[in-house]
Amino acid sequence: MSYFEIRGGAPLEGIVTISGAKNAGLGVIPAAILAGEACIIENLPYVSDVSCFGRILTQLGAKVSLEPNGVMTIDPSTINCLSATSNEVSSFRASYYLLGALLGRYGMVEIALPGGCDIGDRPIDQHIKGFEALGATVTIDEDNALIRAEAKRLVGCEVYLDMASVGATINIMLAATRAEGRTTIVNAAKEPYIVDIANFINMMGGSVRGAGTDEIKITGRQRLHGCTYAIIPDMMEAGTFMIAAAATGGNVVLNNVIPNHLDAISAKLLEGGALVEVDDDGRDFYVRVRADRRLRAVNIKTQYYPGFPTDLQQPMGALLTRAKGRSLLIEDIFEHRFKYMDELKRMGAQIVVNNRRAMIDGVEELCACDMRANDLRAGAALVIAALSAQGTSRVYGIKYIDRGYEHFEHKLRALGADITRAD
Ligand code: EPZ
Repeated sequence: MSYFEIRGGAPLEGIVTISGAKNAGLGVIPAAILAGEACIIENLPYVSDVSCFGRILTQLGAKVSLEPNGVMTIDPSTINCLSATSNEVSSFRASYYLLGALLGRYGMVEIALPGGCDIGDRPIDQHIKGFEALGATVTIDEDNALIRAEAKRLVGCEVYLDMASVGATINIMLAATRAEGRTTIVNAAKEPYIVDIANFINMMGGSVRGAGTDEIKITGRQRLHGCTYAIIPDMMEAGTFMIAAAATGGNVVLNNVIPNHLDAISAKLLEGGALVEVDDDGRDFYVRVRADRRLRAVNIKTQYYPGFPTDLQQPMGALLTRAKGRSLLIEDIFEHRFKYMDELKRMGAQIVVNNRRAMIDGVEELCACDMRANDLRAGAALVIAALSAQGTSRVYGIKYIDRGYEHFEHKLRALGADITRAD
């Protein structure tokens, strides 16, 4: 069982380069199926969800290569199977984008029901609503944990989302890309990932307008071509390192970032008393985070973009366990995203959880101990807590961290952290 051994107490100092955005890449990879030719995707993070997706596309018959430098080449023209039911498919969430991509390209698809971080029920009713509005018949085979969708024709329509679901917005966008006529997604998610995937579809010759707003219009195009596309930097990885820098009283410069993607986390760190500066060298942007050992308490309410992101609620919770004063965290997106706090309490954190609300009374010091992560961002949170505690901790469950953070311990070690991976 792999774990990180972390000797905490040292401030993080130095420069870290942010990798490509996992949640953008996991939408662009299946989107390449819509093209009739090979696509080259650059700046992908070399994480297990990405390599897993490459293997799944290979199993469908596509020609796929993934280089350690994060360049994936996908030739979908040889796809000869429309059923993806392996355990790998249900090992992560984004495999459900195969529904929109294969339905959009071939009019038929069968996949294993998706997995993903255990942070709530995570239904896919809005995805299904979109597919059915386009003319597809969707059936869920509970006994075999499969979902099937098929359509003789996909015809553009208007779909109103009950909530600004990232996954549903992406999946419906994929299915509509080659449909007849125009599709409008109302109350669409506005995350930068959506814009990145829309830009990729447009690079292939598709027609997606309005991505990044709450109304996206897709005009179906029958012929799409290959392209080369570099995905955006990972705002969640950047936010994680910004929080880690502040939590350890460090001084860290992040490069390869898009500053306005980080507005919510920058605002909260500034509110807590950290110094957050954006700079550029005429070509690239940088963000510097500097802080004393303890920030002031702040209140967090997770919201859809551009609000405070739910994916940084857990890293921020770790930081606030040592802030001066009482912080209130409200998790408004997922119903079970506070489980990591049980681990933090074992370090001496003073936290009271009541459904989607958590009250944190900051303490001077956390006590190092052994902890277990149950999801990706909880893993990052426990590492941040261990880095800011006195003594040596072990964080188990790092397979979750490997799903979404590229070279996590190497990047932290380069910033002065005493962290090693052990079995
Ligand atoms: C994506 O998950 C991300 N995953 C999550 O990141 C992220 O936390 C989430 O968006 C919110 O930003 C990927 O991109 C692979 P949603 P997704 O659909 O698409 C409800 C990480 O750590 N909902 O925006 O599953 C849902 O239950 C991961 O990188 C429905 O009710 O999130 C939730 O309460 C964790 N019905 C809310 O909407 C639906 O059909 C938002 O979910 C769809 C969603």
